[in-house]
Amino acid sequence: MRQTSTRQKNARGTYGEYGGRFVPDSIGVLLDELECAFDSAMADPSFVAEMDRLLGEYVGRPSPITECANLSRELKGGRLFLKREDLNHTGAHKINNALGQALLAKRMGKTRLIAETGAGMHGTASATAAALMGMSCTVYMGAVDVARQARNVSRMKALGATVVAVREGQGTLKEAVDAALAAWVEDPEAFYLLGSVVGPAPYPEIVRTFQSVIGREARRQFLEREGRLPDEVAACVGGGSNAMGLFSGFLEDREVVLTGVEPGGKGLEKGLGFHAATLCAGSRGVVHGFRTVVLSDASGEPAPVHSIAAGLDYPGVGPELAHLRDTGRARYVAVTDDEALEAFRRLCRSEGIIPALESAHALAYALKRLPEMKPDQALLVNLSGRGDKDLDTVFPEKHQKGFTVGAGGLNGIQSRGLFYV
Ligand SMILES: Cc1ncc(COP(=O)(O)O)c(C=O)c1O
Repeated sequence: MRQTSTRQKNARGTYGEYGGRFVPDSIGVLLDELECAFDSAMADPSFVAEMDRLLGEYVGRPSPITECANLSRELKGGRLFLKREDLNHTGAHKINNALGQALLAKRMGKTRLIAETGAGMHGTASATAAALMGMSCTVYMGAVDVARQARNVSRMKALGATVVAVREGQGTLKEAVDAALAAWVEDPEAFYLLGSVVGPAPYPEIVRTFQSVIGREARRQFLEREGRLPDEVAACVGGGSNAMGLFSGFLEDREVVLTGVEPGGKGLEKGLGFHAATLCAGSRGVVHGFRTVVLSDASGEPAPVHSIAAGLDYPGVGPELAHLRDTGRARYVAVTDDEALEAFRRLCRSEGIIPALESAHALAYALKRLPEMKPDQALLVNLSGRGDKDLDTVFPEKHQKGFTVGAGGLNGIQSRGLFYV
């Protein structure tokens, strides 16, 4: 979406100097309608009860906490625990939010969902929710991501969704969000099911609310099994929904360190275009209708970004996470593609768990952090998703299939526009 013709600030949707709405009036009206529907739904015990029922008997919550005794022993330091969002139905945290928003859409009388996706996990979760609730679903996905997350494209198609490959720009998550927003403006009767804590208000609040189950559960489970809180919790940060979901449970516990792990790609020192570490290297700006920290080029436009993890390949970040950085409540670090790949390998081999490449970023941080911790200290990492979708990336000989996907680049797909997969 083009940045702003009209500015609409919404005090409720701001986090310090971030968030708000920078959108045309046509979208502002839709966002007002969404905010009213969300408030009424959250105040309705039958909506909350239906959501709880779905999270329990459809998603399989609560997701467990697993202690990684082997890795902890190998690293000779603190104890590592995982919050197992990979064990949710559809294999990631994205389903928590997709079901919440789809239920909201149903309550609003909507019959069509629009979604963007990077790694395909949010697209799959949206397609799943649409199938369950008898709605149609169109998922916009960058053409590079269609190639590198092909397994999830098949899953979305099997679930009855239409997948539209976006060939604009870098052909990754930013362009998918652009296309989904444009499609919403064209069909305002549809419901835009946004997948992370980004976008104009009230989306960051809605997504945080539906993902807060992660932090609520994790805090309770950890207290029950250990009789105390973890010393530190960590999560990877793309748009920031799994991090915000986890952090929200511990915000008031000032003694618990909150660490967000950003995609350092080929290395921050290589400069713009080689990473997507927004909070570590970006500056204040507006993207996709909200104010936040952005990686931008010299002309102020969102810069090209790169991460081996399609779900982290985004030039902006959730406004609340940016605010938590400025207030010092959360800290952010970056790990490289290679470090994430090494963490992927180690979790597979040492614990028998195949992590999503997104989640492997948080694990890569854990591999560095644990040796610095004392044996009685605990680090809880959100394992945001499972890694079946990434096997073609990790074992690249199977990956090419007619496309050459390079660092942040798209070769072999020349023309602009959209195509249906
Ligand atoms: C498994 C997994 N983890 C993390 C992310 C990053 O998104 P977010 O930062 O909103 O949690 C994605 C995005 O697709 C994902 O699929």
